[in-house]
Amino acid sequence: MNIKDKLSLDKVAKSILRTNDRGSYTVPTAGLYPYQWNWDSAFAALGFATFDLDRAWIEIETLFSAQWPNGMVPHIIFHKDDPGYYPGPEVWGTHGIGPISSSGISQPAIAATMIRSIWEQDKDRGEMHLRTLLPKIKAWHKWFMDWRTDENGAVFLTHPWEAGRDNSPDWDTAMAMIDPVGVGEYTRRDIGHVDAAMRPTKADYDRYIWLVDQGRKLRWNEEEMARERTFMVADPTLTFILLRANRDLARMSEDLGEDRTEIDAWSKTLEAGAAQLRNPKTGIFEAINLQTKEFTGHITSASFLCWYARLDDPRTYDALKKCLKTCRYPIPSLAMGSPHFNGFAYWRGPTWAIMNCMIGMGLADMGHFEAAKKLRHLTRDLIAEYGFAEYFHPLTGAPAGGGTFTWTAAVWLAWASPSAGEQ
Ligand code: SER
Repeated sequence: MNIKDKLSLDKVAKSILRTNDRGSYTVPTAGLYPYQWNWDSAFAALGFATFDLDRAWIEIETLFSAQWPNGMVPHIIFHKDDPGYYPGPEVWGTHGIGPISSSGISQPAIAATMIRSIWEQDKDRGEMHLRTLLPKIKAWHKWFMDWRTDENGAVFLTHPWEAGRDNSPDWDTAMAMIDPVGVGEYTRRDIGHVDAAMRPTKADYDRYIWLVDQGRKLRWNEEEMARERTFMVADPTLTFILLRANRDLARMSEDLGEDRTEIDAWSKTLEAGAAQLRNPKTGIFEAINLQTKEFTGHITSASFLCWYARLDDPRTYDALKKCLKTCRYPIPSLAMGSPHFNGFAYWRGPTWAIMNCMIGMGLADMGHFEAAKKLRHLTRDLIAEYGFAEYFHPLTGAPAGGGTFTWTAAVWLAWASPSAGEQ
């Protein structure tokens, strides 16, 4: 595909954002994900910002309008009931807790980083938006610091959906410790939209629902849930992303003349936490099952988010270079040499454009321009060749999961397209 054809894909990407736009929020893709998802929405805002800054601010403001009184920003916001998705509002049982019907857990805190990008492009008119948003972002980050940070400063998840990497092998040992008694019968909706081979298994889903049941029984009260956690994995995705977001929050606070001391202190804690995630045996950042204190031993695309958090790392860089050389369409969500690798199975192998975008942005920020460029160009080729899929097979490029996907379109517009310029 030549450069002109690639540029014409900007139009397709914009029309995907417009099609998935529900007025004040964007769905990831119709059918499979009919609500507003937290990190999808922050990417949508990044995409909108390339052609409609007002709409970008609206996306973010709608996201924060669902913030709970304890600061948590939910991972799904159920603006309008949709029987095509399970588990819906009645399973989560959050009624009366937050201002809008929602799930009871959060998702990687990418919003501050995307807001900073919008702010940098809209400094003249953006101040009133930013002034209102800053205390909300800060309250959300504080919620992570209070309720999702282990004694070393790493951020942990209490449900696989909280890290966004639902069926990553990083959770396998923790998931195996759950006996999902009492879950009962339920009908999955996801496999009515997408080939079951590309989705988590029934054993995974039983545990996802069991964990939701536990939270609902405690009315999602963090203090009570913290007394006895059944699932707790310290995670590079959540840790690196919050660290980066926190640095961006500090910078925006300074831009508006506000005090950043507390935010900087959080960054120090998170830096210490990130350092703990390095497995001394492999030199790679890995997840840790906090119940057994064991590294999970997997190299995932989240291992390469260190640069995004502005942490350089030579051993991880070597691993990245190897991956860029050996994989046709990097970066696989699980190293291809792993016995658990499956190129179609959601977070157990496929390549995700959003992860590439964050990794690429991080590499460029840290001066690794060649690697950043290579990753960006390979992602460009992948999307240009195989479309705006949810994820892709890393060896063949075959599209997988949902189609006409908001965040893939957004990543195209803001980062992968030739019109996004060289960073
Ligand atoms: N990703 C989950 C799903 O597949 C929810 O966050 O429904």
